[in-house]
Amino acid sequence: MKTGTHAVAKRYLITSALPYINGIKHLGNLVGSMLPADVFARYQRARGHEVLFICATDEHGTPAELAAAEAGQDVAAYCAEQHRLQAEVSSRFGLSFDHFGRSSSRRNHELTQHFAARLEDEGLIEERTEPQIYSAVDGRFLPDRYVEGTCPKCGFERARGDQCDNCGSTLDPTDLIAPRSKISGSTDLETRETNHLYLLQDRMQDGIRAWVDAAEDWPPLARSIAYKWLDEGLMPRAITRDLAWGIPVARDGKVRPGYESKVFYVWFDAPIEYIGATREWADATGSDWQRWWRTDQGADDVTYVQFMGKDNVAFHTVSFPATMLGSREPWKLVDRLKAFNWLNWYGGKFSTSENRGVFMDQALALHPSDTWRWYLMSNAPESSDASFSWEQFRTTVNGDLVNVLGNFTNRILSFAGTRFAGRVPGDGEAGDDERRLAGELRAHLTEIEAHHEAMEFRKAAAATRALWAAGNEYLTRAAPWTAIKSDPERAAVAVRAGLNLIVLFARVVAPIIPDSAAKMLASVGAGSVSDTGWPDGDAAGWLDALPRGAAVANPGPMFSRIDDALLAEWETNFPGG
Ligand code: MF3
Ligand code: ZN
Repeated sequence: MKTGTHAVAKRYLITSALPYINGIKHLGNLVGSMLPADVFARYQRARGHEVLFICATDEHGTPAELAAAEAGQDVAAYCAEQHRLQAEVSSRFGLSFDHFGRSSSRRNHELTQHFAARLEDEGLIEERTEPQIYSAVDGRFLPDRYVEGTCPKCGFERARGDQCDNCGSTLDPTDLIAPRSKISGSTDLETRETNHLYLLQDRMQDGIRAWVDAAEDWPPLARSIAYKWLDEGLMPRAITRDLAWGIPVARDGKVRPGYESKVFYVWFDAPIEYIGATREWADATGSDWQRWWRTDQGADDVTYVQFMGKDNVAFHTVSFPATMLGSREPWKLVDRLKAFNWLNWYGGKFSTSENRGVFMDQALALHPSDTWRWYLMSNAPESSDASFSWEQFRTTVNGDLVNVLGNFTNRILSFAGTRFAGRVPGDGEAGDDERRLAGELRAHLTEIEAHHEAMEFRKAAAATRALWAAGNEYLTRAAPWTAIKSDPERAAVAVRAGLNLIVLFARVVAPIIPDSAAKMLASVGAGSVSDTGWPDGDAAGWLDALPRGAAVANPGPMFSRIDDALLAEWETNFPGG
């Protein structure tokens, strides 16, 4: 089998929102950007397109400093270690990044300072004096999350300086009622004047609106968030902070006077790391990064697709484009954007700070990555928020993977083992049943392709299930287990079709559950998914693609059933609510 021929190979640049460095991510983070981006990347690679899939840790800002302090570690050492842990758990989850970079990399420092210099030269940066919260006890300014207090909008007492987790309002530290230092708890706080750099987004309002108007391929959620910001009017935005850890406010290697203890704001440098990580990748592999990012260097052929949670949309549709457009350089901007709602933990929220929910490393200790991948994609929070429960996880895994896909594979392999000497039967030729099946398969495949192209992951999973069901119904109709006595040739044809269906199912499900797909292909000696790619050509051929007479082997159950005892154990160890 070989990779199918396709009309024209396209180029896809795919980025996932960068996970914060502060600890291994929970399943809510995973399903909201990294996992769907991976499924899309795998699908487009299987279609024969050229894909560059980029992610990185988002290492700056107060969350990183606070988490390092809590861990009693120097922040640089903390970030290095957490990056390693996140890279490792991502690869165990099968996330096929071409590069998993770090926003603290030298490349991102260079690029961030480059953008700031360009924006300043375009007259889009202005220095302003503003009041900031200063803590005498801590001997420093307290930006963003270094201050907590009561939310002026809803009265929540543990609102943070940058936002209220209760009502979702975006805040400024000076908005908080009864503010206290997150470092020392001190309430002896004053406001002091200090200088910061402001990006004059208000001057870019028309340019950004024109660009959003022209964006054709955005889903309604992304579009409405972008217009909400534009309609409210873009405001000048501070792009520096009073922090030690971050990218120095420097130009040509010299720190800007007065900015010795300030750095660029994390939300300024983080998206730039999409480019930074591409440069890290190019450095590591000797590749050309500009053909992915510079429209004057070939990137005008690239389709750039971004994945993110809904709280990130404004940063990607307005702020980051403002940085790029404002530079007046030919940067590649996002073409298609996929935003997710929240996956909740029972009725409430997954929470890193409160350690609520299941984290990626814990999940892998409980069950193989593929079952999580299947569960998460078939229940992705696309059109609305979704809610995790152990019972739903069990129902999905047992219902789809164990009872349908696993059972199909096992049934046909074991029958081929006992009745056809573990070989692809050679007798008989396809009849009406097989022609009818081929037609059904082609129709299902067309639907699956449309959902993957549209990045509708729930629908892609549902349509994949329907493909399996069509195969199962065929086998029930053909019933080789009884035909073997009355009409051995018909039985041979059905078993051959069944074994070839294993290949087809594996190729189609590989973007979602790659490890299981590889096992399925190995069981019929069909080589790796990367050799086989996405099915194409004549559907009837799919049912007779394996060499007749080739050896097959049943590797045993493909998926393990979640029983009552296991469910009870998980519910006890990871209680909901
Ligand atoms: N770390 C941010 C979050 O988890 C996402 C950053 S995305 C990027 O919400 F654009 F800044 F890179
Ligand atoms: Zn609030």
